[in-house]
Amino acid sequence: MCGIIGYTGNLDAKEVLLKGLSQLEYRGYDSAGIALEDGKGDVSLYKQVGQVANLKEVCQNAGIPLSHCGIGHTRWATHGGVTEQNAHPHQAGKVTLIHNGIIENYHELTDTYHLQGQLVSETDTEVAAQVIDHFYDGDPLKAIHSALEVLKGSFAFCILFADIPERIYCVRNVSPLVAAMSEQGAFVASDLTALISYSSSYFIVPEYHIMVMEKDHITLLDEQNQPVKPEMLEVNWDVESAQKGGYPFYMLKEIHEQPEAIRKTVLPRIKDGLPDFEQEQIPDSLFRNCQNIAIVACGTAMYAGMVGKALMEPMLRIPVSVNIASEFRYEQPLADEKTLVIVISQSGETIDTLAALRLAKNLGAPVLSVVNVKGSTIARESDYVLYTHAGPEIAVASTKAYAVQLASMYLIACRMSFVRGRYTVQEGKAFIENLLSCVPAIEKILEQTDEIEKAAHHIKAASDTYFIGRGLDYAYSLEGALKLKEISYIHAEAYAAGELKHGTIALIEENTPVVAFATQSHVFQKTISNIREVRARGAYVILITKESAEIPEGICDIHFTVDAKNDQFTGLPTVVILQLLAYYTSLSKGLDVDKPRNLAKSVTVE
Ligand code: AGP
Repeated sequence: MCGIIGYTGNLDAKEVLLKGLSQLEYRGYDSAGIALEDGKGDVSLYKQVGQVANLKEVCQNAGIPLSHCGIGHTRWATHGGVTEQNAHPHQAGKVTLIHNGIIENYHELTDTYHLQGQLVSETDTEVAAQVIDHFYDGDPLKAIHSALEVLKGSFAFCILFADIPERIYCVRNVSPLVAAMSEQGAFVASDLTALISYSSSYFIVPEYHIMVMEKDHITLLDEQNQPVKPEMLEVNWDVESAQKGGYPFYMLKEIHEQPEAIRKTVLPRIKDGLPDFEQEQIPDSLFRNCQNIAIVACGTAMYAGMVGKALMEPMLRIPVSVNIASEFRYEQPLADEKTLVIVISQSGETIDTLAALRLAKNLGAPVLSVVNVKGSTIARESDYVLYTHAGPEIAVASTKAYAVQLASMYLIACRMSFVRGRYTVQEGKAFIENLLSCVPAIEKILEQTDEIEKAAHHIKAASDTYFIGRGLDYAYSLEGALKLKEISYIHAEAYAAGELKHGTIALIEENTPVVAFATQSHVFQKTISNIREVRARGAYVILITKESAEIPEGICDIHFTVDAKNDQFTGLPTVVILQLLAYYTSLSKGLDVDKPRNLAKSVTVE
């Protein structure tokens, strides 16, 4: 949700900002803008609607004088349409600022500070700029502190004050900000992707601390304006892993990175053939003592949780619920100290997931989070963290992060079964062997993409598609449908196969694509019957089964198989087929696979 970057140092600020914005563009790409300070306090703005490439073009042809200090923003619109006026940076008096987040009381502030008639945009951000300028009398710290007392909501701000050259002030609440210092200057950004080419160590700006960036140092001040030492972290990604590496789109690259991501996530946690979380300091008592599990997440991460539930309930025989974080946080959830709350998030910054985590902790529940981004807010606020090792995921459509979330569900399910006496050592070891066999099974899928591309060509003309399955297959179908709709804009609905005839089957007509999953032996025949029902109504059926399955003649139009000996482990290879199906459909429609419309990578607003 909006990417922000700030820089002051000895490099060409315009180049640093534009490069950083390209790297942060997955966070939002409705419009982009930069503000450059000329070393004497004069600030010039450059903004463009659309992708960062548009802004780059304008800046390249504008004959912009060299500047060494500036701020940049790529927007995911919340308040006000996609226009140049609404694009950041915003200016008010001596203040120029960029913002990620939402100022919830901006209407009220507009009235209190009589801003009607002065505002040139429809954004909450411009109101924040006005409020800071209102308090500014030459003392930036005082102005920021006064503004913080009246601003409500989430924010990460980078602020330039016109009479203070070469300095950037930053402050945040909830919305993320990371910073780094190198010989080239001081850098701040929404996330690491924009910083890793400059520094291998960084820190997370603590909430409500004011960070003052100067070209040769950064000062961090606590709420009482006392200098504090930032807690330095080491980057665990390399620059290359955040680039396309010869692939046409990040999504395709990330799909292909899944075998490695799974290996990196699983192997370091295996000791004597069993999952072991000693290094993460996750005690067995956490798994032994809980009476139920509540999984909380959003989107794809939540669908990984659906697979977790379908796996864990039969294995553990305790209730496992999967909760949409934005619902959980407002609906008086049933969780207490006997509930193990498992929070899943790639970014570790999703605002609803974070709020749900905080609520769970208030209810006394221990929280274990499964997070990809090291040091993110969700990771820091959880009682225990199991980091996934997918590396940076740039494409908006999540692929490798989902794969490692699934791998983590398997690890947790296995450790819990063992700790609770439901698995013997032998059973645990066999489970992990099966999990690791998913890696070659995925590699096999990645080697045969032609058929998937063919199926995509059939789907691309459809207006509606259906994904059906039972049990674990139903959980996979949810993710498959989400992937297709988010990057191809084709309506895709996932349905429990047996439920279809209670209404939704009315929508099936001649040639409607139905992606059917029948990888679960105990309901195989039942699903086959459901497929017959849609086929009888003209559906174009794409069927996924295990390699060993014997399917009735004429049951489908296209048949994909996954190599899995055990039904519990069909998910990872199956989902790779679905990811590729979505990818090729989007590609064949000529869409921007990595930057689907209306979406942003991390959703840091409600
Ligand atoms: C899926 O492809 C999405 N981009 C989206 O659903 C995502 O999984 C969701 O917003 C949760 O994000 P998180 O894992 O960073 O919390």
